[in-house]
This record gives sequence, C-alpha cells and structure tokens, in this order.
Amino acid sequence: MSQNSDSRPAYVGCVLGIAVLGVFMLFLLPLPLPPAFAQNNQPQGSNSASGLPSLVLDPGPRGSPVGAGRPIANLTADQLRFFNDGAARFVHSEAVANGLGPTFNADSCGACHSQPANGGTSPSANAFPNVGANPQVALATANGGKNSVPFFVTANGPVREARFKFLMNRNGSLDTTQPDGSVHDLFTIQGRNDAPAACVLPQEDFLAAATQHNLALRIPTPTFGGGFIEMIDDRTILANMLANQAIKSALGIRGKPNRNGNDATISRFGWKAQNKSLIMFSHEAYSVEIGETNQMFPQKRGFFPNPPPPQCIANSLPEDQTNYLPIGSDTVSVPSDDDAFATFMRFLDQPTPACSGPTCSPSIQNGNRLFTTTGCALCHTPSMTTGQSVFSVNPPGLSGVQANLFSDLLLHHMGVRLHDGISQGNAGPDEFRTAPLWGLGQRLFFLHDGRTSDLLQVIREHQSTGSEANGVINNFNQLKPAEKQDILNFLRSL
Ligand code: HEC
Ligand code: HEC
Repeated sequence: MSQNSDSRPAYVGCVLGIAVLGVFMLFLLPLPLPPAFAQNNQPQGSNSASGLPSLVLDPGPRGSPVGAGRPIANLTADQLRFFNDGAARFVHSEAVANGLGPTFNADSCGACHSQPANGGTSPSANAFPNVGANPQVALATANGGKNSVPFFVTANGPVREARFKFLMNRNGSLDTTQPDGSVHDLFTIQGRNDAPAACVLPQEDFLAAATQHNLALRIPTPTFGGGFIEMIDDRTILANMLANQAIKSALGIRGKPNRNGNDATISRFGWKAQNKSLIMFSHEAYSVEIGETNQMFPQKRGFFPNPPPPQCIANSLPEDQTNYLPIGSDTVSVPSDDDAFATFMRFLDQPTPACSGPTCSPSIQNGNRLFTTTGCALCHTPSMTTGQSVFSVNPPGLSGVQANLFSDLLLHHMGVRLHDGISQGNAGPDEFRTAPLWGLGQRLFFLHDGRTSDLLQVIREHQSTGSEANGVINNFNQLKPAEKQDILNFLRSL
C-alpha cells in the first residue's frame, strides 16, 4: 500500500499561466553544444525566473556516517556468507582471460557502483577522496589499452555510458529510419596486453555521434535496497498509481508502469524501469558494461548491429557460468558470478537517512512536509511495502518491509529538456521512472545523464514543455526562499 506521510495535503496553487511558464523557460534554454552533457557542479545563485539572487543553496553531499552498504538485518549465517561472497565478486576486476570485452565500459561492477559504498553509484574525486576519481579515465589505457577518453568522461565527472539513438553507418552517416537505442561501449580491448594480438576493433566516434545529436548518456543508479524494489507487488504499485487521482490530474500527473516483454509483469529497475529483476540486471550488466558473456547472454557484443570480429574473442562461451562441483563439495563458489551479484544486491539494505521524524531539525521536518504539499510526493511516493518473500527465515527479511524509496516506480513524461530519444519497452523517448531518492544525501550526480550535481538545478530540469511535473514545479517556484531551502535540506537528509 502507498504511504504518503500527510493524509490530506493542502496543495498550493495548482497551475500557473502558460505565459509565465514561457518566461521561465527562457532561463532554461540549453547552453552551447553539446548542451545536455555540460557538467554543472556549481550551485545556482538564483532560484526564480526573475533571476534575482537568492540564498537557496544545495547543502551538497553529507559526509559520514555512510548510511548505506550494509546487509539487511537478520540474515542467516548462510545468507550472510553468500552476501559477502557476492560483495567480493562485485568489486573483482575482470581481464580479457576472465571475459572482459571486446567492448566494455568498465572492468567491474564496483567501478561504477561505489559511492558512497559498494553497490552505490558513480564515484568522484570531488567529494569523497577515499572513493577515488572516475575510474573510466584510467581504464581507457589500462593494461596497455589504446583507447581515448570520450569528451563526456572527466576525472571529476560521473561514470557514463552511451547509447546511439539511430543507426550510424560504418561511413559515419546517420540512418534516421533505423532506430538503434543500444549501449555503445566506450572502450575496446584492441592493443591491450591481455587481448588477442590479431584483434582489430576501433572505438566508436562519440564526438561525431554528439554532433549528429545521436548520443544519449546515462549514469549508474544505486543498487541499495534492490531486494525491496524487487519484492514490491505489482498490485501495490498499481494501487499507488490510482491513489490521489483528482489532485494528480489537476496537476497533469499521469504515470504508467513499464512491463517486462517476457511475462508482462511490471518491470522496475533502471532509468526507464526497463528491467525486471536483479538477476536479469546482473546478467545484462555483465554483458553490456564489462563484455562478459553469461548464461542469460551467451554471445559477445560488438557495436550494434555488428557482432565483434572473431579475432577479438579469446574464450569459450559463456565465460560466467554455474560451477558444477563434485559430489561432496560444499563451497560458496557454486553460483555463477551473476547469481552472486544478484544475491549481494538483494540483501543490500536500504540507505539510512540522517534523521527521522522529531530527531530531524525543524528545517528538515518542514522540508519533508513541503515535499508532500508541493506535490513532489505524488511521483516520489515516500514508501511502499514489500510482499511476502521466501527470504524471511529470520523475520522480517524481505517480507512486509516498508521500503522508503521515494518513487512510484512508474514512468512519467518529463518534457523536452530531459527527453533522451531512447525507447525501452513501454517507455518512450521522454519517459523515465520516478528516480528513487533514498540515499540522495550522499549522491554526487543527478538525473539520467548526470548533467548536474545541484539539487536546485535538478528541480528546474523537471520543468519543460510536455513534462508531467510542470504543475508541481510551479508550486515549488511559488514557495518562499526559506521554504525551498527546507526542501533541499530535507532531500540531503535522505
Ligand atoms: C560502466 C559502468 C557500469 C558498470 C561496470 C556496471 N553498471 Fe550497473 N548501472 C550502470 C548504469 C549506467 C545504470 C543505469 C542503466 C540504465 O538504466 O540504462 C546501471 C544500473 C544498474 C542497476 C539498476 C538499479 C536500479 O534500481 O535502477 C543494477 C541492479 C546494476 N546496475 C547492477 C550492476 C551489476 C551487477 C554490475 C556488474 C555486472 C554492474 N551494474 C556494472 C553502470 C554500470
Ligand atoms: C511527474 C513526476 C515527478 C514529479 C512531480 C517530481 N519528480 Fe523528481 N523525478 C521524476 C523523474 C521521472 C525523475 C528522473 C528524471 C531523469 O533522470 O531524467 C526525477 C528525478 C528527481 C531527482 C534526481 C534523482 C536522481 O537519481 O538523479 C530529484 C532530486 C528529484 N526528482 C526531486 C524532486 C522534487 C524535489 C520534486 C518536487 C519539487 C520532484 N522531484 C517532482 C519525477 C517527478
């Protein structure tokens, strides 16, 4: 069931005039090329269409205690053993002999999912030096690799991956009649010490793709609480979708589930809720991000639509598989890596906020209230409760747990500014899953392409032609500066 914290929110003024919206949008016009990928790390000095300076500032990521990365409470000794095994495999760097490449974005899950703890999201040298800089910069030339670092990957920026919207022909021309949508890995193993010497597979030309407006970027989503997201019943998601209908439609909020093509149940992982389960995401990521074939994806990837040259394939396939051990063996190495990754994420607890209820400062408490009354909570549902899980030997395990995810797990049209031109399942080119906000306090980069590190800018990006969030952002814009600050303080407490 849905649990909006206030029972009868008094929504502030609903819909602003189109004219006012138009004026506001003048300030949202994209910067010079390539606009969507400009890195904006600076808090903004103004918060309204008037451009007047204000004191509303994103307080920035909070430091310790790190409120994430622990296993859920009450795991059995066996579950904990498998969790720890999965955690170790999650950070293990793969070489070509293990299955890396021929195309790849990174060499371990942990390279991209490490902030603020193993399983999280993109690291940066900026805020938490112990986590380290963007690992993709060094990976370009690791092991003698000859890759250049694409323009949208920087030491202090987020880990990124790239999709092409349309088919790019070998000669560099664009075929806009042929959708692509697939991930084009940043690097290849060509020239690496551990690659077959005969492997010839040049990198993609990402600058050309950007110039042709054919590039769509994404940053990693955190995997904390993945086991809870997996165990929320479809009926809970649908009941929450139907709640507060009158106020949602007055504000222009719709929302719909994405569905899995194989069994038509509601999918919920990834920026477009395109993926069904942790097992599926693990296998997909092993193939797509690292290049390692597995039991769900046994063929090596090249650059869509071409398979890789046979000279670039070093191993028998699939490279990750169930280990069939002799009778009498009892070790934790039985599962495939992908099975182990999924176990690790399934038992990874939800992030712990800095405070809760009366232990929070008055500003954070007020921000929590305004988050609901402004209408943010109509999409960012504060919590949903998991169904019955078999992993509940010591209750509650994963059963009946209140997951404070701040998402309805539904897709929403987010307008021309966030539009990325990629369709996945039911999700169209401008539709995204309401991003879960748990753990937000320690996040460094925001929105699907990591275009900003500033929460005020994130809120602005919600508003543009065609966005279901426009009514709510109008409400936000009418708040006093101190109230806006309360919302930002609340967000950084999560
Ligand atoms: C090169 C960086 C990179 C690597 C390596 C990587 N991921 Fe990810 N991960 C991403 C990105 C980007 C997304 C968002 C993808 C999307 O929605 O298109 C993501 C999303 C996820 C999610 C979805 C979480 C949610 O709620 O949306 C899971 C689960 C996940 N990754 C697991 C893994 C596992 C397991 C591995 C190792 C096999 C891995 N990832 C390796 C970049 C990476
Ligand atoms: C119509 C539904 C909707 C409403 C209303 C809404 N959001 Fe969002 N929010 C989204 C979606 C969808 C995304 C992901 C968009 C993307 O990445 O392109 C998002 C992303 C975010 C993010 C970034 C999270 C991340 O992982 O990068 C923050 C922070 C956020 N919203 C805060 C708010 C606040 C604060 C409000 C109210 C002022 C609000 N949202 C209103 C749907 C909504």
